[in-house]
Amino acid sequence: MKVTVVGAGNVGATCADAIARWELSNEVVLLDIKEGFAEGKALDIWQTSPINLFDTRPVGSTNDYGKTAGSDVVVITSGLPRKPGMSRDDLIATNAAIVKSVTENVVKASPEAIIIVVSNPLDVMTYCAYLTSKFPSQRVFGMAGILDTARYRAFLAEELNVSPKDIQAVLMGGHGDTMVPLPRYTTVGGIPVTELISEEKLNAIVERTKKGGGEIVNLLGTSAWYAPGTAAAQMVEAIVRDQKRVFPVCAWLEGQYGLKDIYLGVPVVLGRQGIERIIELQLNDEEKALLQDSAKAVREVMDVLDKMNKGVTA
Ligand code: LAC
Repeated sequence: MKVTVVGAGNVGATCADAIARWELSNEVVLLDIKEGFAEGKALDIWQTSPINLFDTRPVGSTNDYGKTAGSDVVVITSGLPRKPGMSRDDLIATNAAIVKSVTENVVKASPEAIIIVVSNPLDVMTYCAYLTSKFPSQRVFGMAGILDTARYRAFLAEELNVSPKDIQAVLMGGHGDTMVPLPRYTTVGGIPVTELISEEKLNAIVERTKKGGGEIVNLLGTSAWYAPGTAAAQMVEAIVRDQKRVFPVCAWLEGQYGLKDIYLGVPVVLGRQGIERIIELQLNDEEKALLQDSAKAVREVMDVLDKMNKGVTA
């Protein structure tokens, strides 16, 4: 197995570090455009191998996609992160150009790869990679749901004073303030969460989750990396170990949930083939309305990308 992580910034390096620690592949290639940067990060990660006890070889590359050739999975983290006051959508023009050029190079070097997009605005950058790669949608998807659900689960664990391991949850929609956490599908050791927490407290946690990325941007002056990078590595793990894990993933919808031709977060089964199945939950009317609102917000940004693409080709 060979995995490539494009972008050796905080998110990419955290992801590559987790891939190495968990020995998900023989080799993990870290690529960046900044001279020597990926090589330095790869060397630093390699020097943890006698301590963390792994054999996976981190390999750094300054924009040489030859080194990534034949990758089974490619994680794209390239692009600018958010600064305080910015929405993820503010990044669209800059990051679309970056993701497009990265995807072109990835496709040439690894025509059979599965692509996981992490760049923001997430849903639309995943769409950008899909359009550019011309890969089947089963092999192009985005990481957001695991991160957003992890935040939700961490907040609940803190509030209930229980292990985060025992909190199961699913969250749908776009990776933005319109995301849709689903309390009805949230359990604590199998117990519906609504039996353990007041509606008011649960609502406050849902609201905090929706703004979870922004909370960190405000604290750090840039966006998060430990949770996003590790969440992406968990998707890599499900694929390379063919685990058939059930995760919320930003996937291309073709009629599921009454939505078509849009990338949006939904629960899927993730395995060696990529998205092996999209799970359709029986949402109630309120949940359906929230999902439609989220789809509308994502669609607006997709339209911006479509218009930009037309402008380029016209
Ligand atoms: C976040 C960014 C990475 O949610 O989108 O932290």
